[in-house]
Amino acid sequence: MKSIQLSDGKDISFLHHVCEKENAPTIVFVHGFPLDHTMWLGQLPLVEHANLLMPDLPGFGASDPLAGEPTMRRYADAVANLLNRLGISKAVFCGLSMGGYIGWEFAIHYRELLNGLICCNTRAGGDDELTARAREIAARQVLQDGTEPVALAMREKLFSEFTLTKNVELVNSVVETIRRTDVTTVAAAQRAMARRSDHCENLAAIDVPALVVAGLEDVITPAPQMMEMSFLLGDGSATFVEIADAGHLAPSEQADVFNRAILHWLV
Ligand code: MLT
Repeated sequence: MKSIQLSDGKDISFLHHVCEKENAPTIVFVHGFPLDHTMWLGQLPLVEHANLLMPDLPGFGASDPLAGEPTMRRYADAVANLLNRLGISKAVFCGLSMGGYIGWEFAIHYRELLNGLICCNTRAGGDDELTARAREIAARQVLQDGTEPVALAMREKLFSEFTLTKNVELVNSVVETIRRTDVTTVAAAQRAMARRSDHCENLAAIDVPALVVAGLEDVITPAPQMMEMSFLLGDGSATFVEIADAGHLAPSEQADVFNRAILHWLV
């Protein structure tokens, strides 16, 4: 794990694996809520084909929190700032769920840094009133009770049946990550997601190659909704892939299948 100071004076932690091939693309992997870069460890074999950058978003994992309230835009700013600090002029942005919400902001505000978008288990719409209210309740609860209830609740929602029974190691490691996440960061990210913009109207104008990846057993961002989103993205030019035996964490649950989908799309 490396760490670098961004322009706001805060440290951001990240894994950076450099491919030996010349002119290999860079993929920046942006994790979901309330996780960290470790959800992408199954993507490390991709280093044979691409440079891999896996940050912990501000406040998550080993990264410093932002000063003041986070927003999806401010998380995107941190990713752009990291790319600039590392001298990376273009990257494929790969985001899962909240990482995907950040991806929309990145695509709008940092188009010059972007040469592809991978949207995993995510949505383009904003929260309705009920969801936003539930997030506020969840934010207050985590500040009061800590992350244990969140970890247990998410354990029930994140994974496919296959993962729950056959990949207990992954389940336990994700639950541990959630337990470790700072409560202030969890609450602030919930509030930031509740306030996020709706990007449905912006999908058609996203003009970089895009890959949309869904888990067939995802109950948070169901595959049929993701397929509809993929039809709108890039005015119909996006590639859509469904992964069997995968829930909301498809890239971690079925890492080999996911990696093959990326390679197939990259060429
Ligand atoms: C995530 O995995 O990042 C979350 O499910 C996103 C959300 O709560 O909307």
